[in-house]
Amino acid sequence: MTQLRRPLIAGNWKMNGLVADGTALANSLTALTEKNDLGCEILVCPPAMIIHTVGSIIKTSIIEIGAQDCHSAISGAHTGDLSAEMIKDAGCSYVILGHSERRTDHGESDKDVKAKTEAALNAGLKVIICIGETESERDQGKALEVVCSQLTNSMPDVINADQLVVAYEPVWAIGTGRIPSLGDVEEVHLALREKLQHISNEDTALRMRILYGGSMKPGNAKELLALKNVDGGLIGGASLNANDFVAIANCC
Ligand code: PGA
Repeated sequence: MTQLRRPLIAGNWKMNGLVADGTALANSLTALTEKNDLGCEILVCPPAMIIHTVGSIIKTSIIEIGAQDCHSAISGAHTGDLSAEMIKDAGCSYVILGHSERRTDHGESDKDVKAKTEAALNAGLKVIICIGETESERDQGKALEVVCSQLTNSMPDVINADQLVVAYEPVWAIGTGRIPSLGDVEEVHLALREKLQHISNEDTALRMRILYGGSMKPGNAKELLALKNVDGGLIGGASLNANDFVAIANCC
């Protein structure tokens, strides 16, 4: 991590939490972060149904709120979907796009992620673009090739480090308790930064935050966040426990 990039600790609550759960978690997070200079930006991304509830609790805290997906269209006949403008209107500042669970469960391609990213940026949201290789791709020695291609094809035409964050999440590390070696994490993050330089410019590549995600916990966060090109974390399971999430943020 470098001072050039303020670390971001983002919680991806996924499809977890009714109003009562979100209320309790938001209250705990607000209390735990109240007098605590965490040295990082902190974000929670609850299910869309409880964004309002969580947002109203954390609004006086340092915690920001985001969504987990958006549609690429501004409005229209898209039953069940949410536009970026609606997400912004609900008080969100961020949206996570291209998570591997969306890519797998909903067949989202890099092209879809790019279109959604353009829509989110147009609505004034910041975007966390997720990429990551599967276990078989890693076993075949294709991890760098896969993530660099996902990065190139998911990025919008205009790449701005103030509006975009990249999250490297090896699919096989998500929710499994397994993480790559620290050397493998740094290798991927460095390759992504070099690729960013290639597709944008040196200044943008240096300022863009690249998060690690996949089984990040209080027990492994310190060493992961100490890596030179790791600028924060995208945390799933451990973000559902306020103490664990804040413990990870404290590792910044
Ligand atoms: P995990 O999920 O921390 O539960 O592995 C991370 C993610 O999917 O963003």
